[in-house]
Amino acid sequence: MIATPPAILIDCDPGIDDCLALMYLAGLHHAGDIELVGVTTTAGNVEAYQTAANARWILDLCSLGDVPVAPGLTRPLKVDLTTTPETHGSTGLGYATAPTTTLHHSDWQRLWKEALAAHHDLQLIVTGPVTNLAAFEEAHSEAVAQFGAITIMGGAVNYRGNTTPTAEWNFWVDPHAAAQHFHSSAPRVPTTLCSLELTEQFLITPQRLEAVMELLHGHPMAHILRDVLRYYFEFHQAQGEGYQAQIHDLLTCMIALGQIDFEVVETTVDVEAESPLLRGTSVADLRNHWGRAHNARLVTSADMEAAHQECLRGFTLLASR
Ligand code: RIB
Ligand code: CA
Repeated sequence: MIATPPAILIDCDPGIDDCLALMYLAGLHHAGDIELVGVTTTAGNVEAYQTAANARWILDLCSLGDVPVAPGLTRPLKVDLTTTPETHGSTGLGYATAPTTTLHHSDWQRLWKEALAAHHDLQLIVTGPVTNLAAFEEAHSEAVAQFGAITIMGGAVNYRGNTTPTAEWNFWVDPHAAAQHFHSSAPRVPTTLCSLELTEQFLITPQRLEAVMELLHGHPMAHILRDVLRYYFEFHQAQGEGYQAQIHDLLTCMIALGQIDFEVVETTVDVEAESPLLRGTSVADLRNHWGRAHNARLVTSADMEAAHQECLRGFTLLASR
């Protein structure tokens, strides 16, 4: 019997590393390794309609015009929206700009419900603020329990932040959504959490980009990828990280799909939402001081060299489309 490829729904905020994640998922979709059933977007790196236009453009360039894209909520649950054009560029794709587009899907919750109804064990990957997931949990708590797995890129767990001394960007943008998720998901669908201390280890250098460009020779994405990544290289260099880029969201997808070896610890994660100073700070109760039910599988390590090889495999699949 032919195994059914895992059905994947990604909620993202393209965003440069989200862009590489979508390209990777497109490659695996074309190869039949997965079925990418839909993409929804959050406000985060840039506004929600722009992240949706970016996702639409990327999927169209990857010959996935039939995969639906819908913008999600346009602002965090309670705080005002803050975007980061200084990190991802004024429209979210570095020095590249998506053309204006018509988004044929506007009801992201309907997209999620239809995907859940159509796909047993649907996997959700979240690589932006957790706004949509938290809102969906609030409105459709019984439906959320139907997800086969949830994987989130977010948080800096017992680690320094990239947005404040203690907070990572996705959890800082919408701290209430992140806090609400970790309060509500246990024990329904434990979350696999890929937090900053792990994901910032996955670095694309200009040399690795050139290896990707060679693979993608002639692919439509090759025409924009250097402009997309150059902005991110410059941002990281300005941050003192060197002329390279942390590709958080692509590593998260590889882990969600089990394509590389990684280790986890079952634990309880909580997020601070009310403190102005500690907004978005995430903590894992690794020594069980709280005595609360576990709500997360915190990824503590992953095979980064395997991730680089898997990245090349995914883009080879994309290029051979
Ligand atoms: O902190 C890294 C995360 O914030 C990544 O998802 C990146 O795309 C930004 O959204
Ligand atoms: Ca992101």
